Amino acid sequence: MGESAMSKSERPVRVLGLEASCDETAAAVLDGQGRIMAEAVLSQEAEHARFGGVVPEIAARAHLAALPGLAARVLDKAGLGYGDLTAVAGTAGPGLIGGLIVGSGFAKGVAIARGIPFFAINHLEGHALTARIPGLLDQPPPAFPYLLLLLSGGHCQCVAVEGVGRYRRLGTTLDDAVGEAFDKAAKMLGLPWPGGPHLERLAAQGDASVVALPRPLLGRQGCDFSWSGLKTAVAQRVAKGDARAEDIAAGFQAAVAAVLADRAAHALAMFPAATAVVVAGGVAANGAVRAALARAAAARGVPMLAPPLRLCTDNAVMIAWAAVERLHAGLPADSLGHAPRPRWPLEELLSGLAPI
Ligand code: KG4
Ligand code: ZN
Repeated sequence: MGESAMSKSERPVRVLGLEASCDETAAAVLDGQGRIMAEAVLSQEAEHARFGGVVPEIAARAHLAALPGLAARVLDKAGLGYGDLTAVAGTAGPGLIGGLIVGSGFAKGVAIARGIPFFAINHLEGHALTARIPGLLDQPPPAFPYLLLLLSGGHCQCVAVEGVGRYRRLGTTLDDAVGEAFDKAAKMLGLPWPGGPHLERLAAQGDASVVALPRPLLGRQGCDFSWSGLKTAVAQRVAKGDARAEDIAAGFQAAVAAVLADRAAHALAMFPAATAVVVAGGVAANGAVRAALARAAAARGVPMLAPPLRLCTDNAVMIAWAAVERLHAGLPADSLGHAPRPRWPLEELLSGLAPI
């Protein structure tokens, strides 16, 4: 029987995922086993760089301009047409409202046009489940439950991942996200935006023991984060003018890595059932951070796992995969009336689930 003669329910699973919640426009198609049939990410970094950060209005317009062409290219690469899709997923929060409206609105349009289910995906759920895509890691994917450390320019959280749709935030930042702290420290040191990778390169030339910087909340109960005191200390040291930029960078990076490792250790103590520590977000690219977190995980006898970098940062594979996980878990699709949510705590996904 040819595919065209099959009924809708017999068609092979093909999920289009769309991501436009911040400054990356992304599309991906996955099959029911999580095989990535095609994917693409367009970064808007160049559009925002001269403003030293993401400008929401520019981001929304750029998503609007880029998404239709990007989705068409990704489908083409996968050898599919819109008619072959069995579901469509769009990031519906948290994030910048303009981009969320563009991404999830486009996904709803596809759902209406093709009569297929629409999934309104929580961006954080996407990050939380990425490491489970079969074949992604050089070891078996993590089984539930595991600890997620989400360390990006927009997020800084410890999350207990207990199942699909079942997440508990154990700790979060009281001020900036850790990537933001990297970017601000880098700016003070005269580096271009986004400064994290530049700061890491500068730190490699420096000596972390020369400039002692505070380690906010180190040893404190719980696993919240705070970076403002460290940021202020960097500003003061730069203003004083008595230290080399590379030593300040190295001192800053060492302080961040030590705090993250301490917070991860506390999170594991709060969540002893965790079978692994999964790291996601752009800051997971940082070698010193990764090494410190790997040590903290090993001290509790669990592995630290990080998806390949391109899937650690914002992408649409994770959005399509979250929909595949939801389909497999028997969770329902979302209403076309689902409104995008700039704030959307992960715990609120639980309300749609049956109690265990
Ligand atoms: O996950 P991501 O690409 O985007 C979101 O914020 O959603 O993370 C970007 C952040 C930026 O703040 C960037 O400076 C930081 O990750 N980053 C790094 C490194 N690479 C990216 N921070 C420290 N060291 C790095 N190597
Ligand atoms: Zn993200």
